[in-house]
Amino acid sequence: MSRVAKSYYSDADPIVQYVTERSIRMTDVQKKLKEETLKHPRSRMMGAPEVVQLNTNIMHAIGAKKVLDVGVFTGVSALAAALAIPSDGKVFALDINDDFVKVGKPFWKEAGVAHKIHLHLAPATESLQKFIDNGESGTFDFAFIDADKLNYDNYHELCLKLMRPGGVIAFDNTLRSGAVIDETDQSENVVAMRKLNDKLRDDKRCNISFLNIGDGLTLLFKK
Ligand SMILES: C[S@@+](CC[C@H](N)C(=O)[O-])C[C@H]1O[C@@H](n2cnc3c(N)ncnc32)[C@H](O)[C@@H]1O
Repeated sequence: MSRVAKSYYSDADPIVQYVTERSIRMTDVQKKLKEETLKHPRSRMMGAPEVVQLNTNIMHAIGAKKVLDVGVFTGVSALAAALAIPSDGKVFALDINDDFVKVGKPFWKEAGVAHKIHLHLAPATESLQKFIDNGESGTFDFAFIDADKLNYDNYHELCLKLMRPGGVIAFDNTLRSGAVIDETDQSENVVAMRKLNDKLRDDKRCNISFLNIGDGLTLLFKK
């Protein structure tokens, strides 16, 4: 049993199963996309339903209309965001791998929200910098950071510029299956995440909540 695990992992703590069985709400299309994604060879990249739903609830609570989805994979988090925002809202979905995204597109369409999802197929640092160059700083309400871990620090700085005051940035996988507290693990991604976690703790530009949910989720609330 793992103390840190997405609810769909077979080794997740039974208490995680208990709470998710009593809280996860998905539309039929979201359930279908989850099942489709579980068949994918890289299925463990899929956002944990409990994380994706918390993101959704935050987007609702803050009235989010303009959202960044950094790391799309099969589009589970992008779909949830598109469902959470109003009909004139926009999700900017950033990824480099069209094959992954292609899996999700029919489901976005079936859910009737494809028009809200604007896909940018390029390294996410480039797309985010482009938004800044276009004068969109301070205009985004919510960002979900879930792409390559070595760039999380760059995503932090770029997304902070793009968020409005009161906007929320959610960083996924900030516990790396618990490896962040195992100093014998010196792999690149884990070392980068430890460094980021320490930086976020000390970042006075935001308020913070660091949650043991899914693979670890850190929420930053821009001051
Ligand atoms: C963990 S998955 C995203 C999961 C998704 N958010 C969800 O809820 O299911 C990470 C994604 O980041 C993408 N990615 C990796 N490096 C990237 C980069 N430099 N720029 C943009 N996307 C990147 C990968 O192609 C992959 O689809």
